[in-house]
Amino acid sequence: MSAILVLYSTVDGHTLKICENIGGFVERAGHSATLARVEDAGTVDVAQFDKIVIGASIRYGKHRPSVFEFIEANLPLLDSKPNAFFSVNIVARKPEKNRPETNPYLRKFLQKTPWRPRLLEVFAGRLDYPRYRPLDRMMIRFIMRITNGPTDPSTVVEFTDWQRVASFARTICEM
Ligand SMILES: Cc1cc2nc3c(=O)[nH]c(=O)nc-3n(C[C@H](O)[C@H](O)[C@H](O)COP(=O)(O)O)c2cc1C
Repeated sequence: MSAILVLYSTVDGHTLKICENIGGFVERAGHSATLARVEDAGTVDVAQFDKIVIGASIRYGKHRPSVFEFIEANLPLLDSKPNAFFSVNIVARKPEKNRPETNPYLRKFLQKTPWRPRLLEVFAGRLDYPRYRPLDRMMIRFIMRITNGPTDPSTVVEFTDWQRVASFARTICEM
């Protein structure tokens, strides 16, 4: 049995939902899962865990600075244990951009950090126009229009492939 720490960086909660899903999977497989916001990782004894997973969403082209700050402050510790990283973004709804090798944000992530996660994944996120502030809604609709996505302002859709989340969680158990 492994103790698995799952850190997440989210704005609207979808990355947390994916982490809860991963947590449920690993617990059903007999491991323990502890979920925490990456911003609160300072209150967690990271060293006591056997494996570390970090998930972070994209907003306006970026993962948040707290993700990179945590990695920088904990690099040797991260490298000393089985570890994994996944990014959540809406571009990954496109089949040609939904792999770690083909997703632009994952490529950018690897350029920005010296960390080389042992397992990398990318999941398509959630589109929730009614929830967005007017300016954000306008911007996302514009991006969707030029990338052939849904533009109806009442659209709420989860593009996440939950089978792929399960297979990511299975690999974490096996690491
Ligand atoms: C204001 C805003 C900006 C976003 N910017 C991007 C972006 O630049 N590229 C992208 O692929 N997805 C973008 N997204 C989509 C989010 O990554 C997606 O909704 C994800 O599920 C959000 O996860 P979270 O709820 O954990 O923050 C954006 C979403 C919002 C609301």
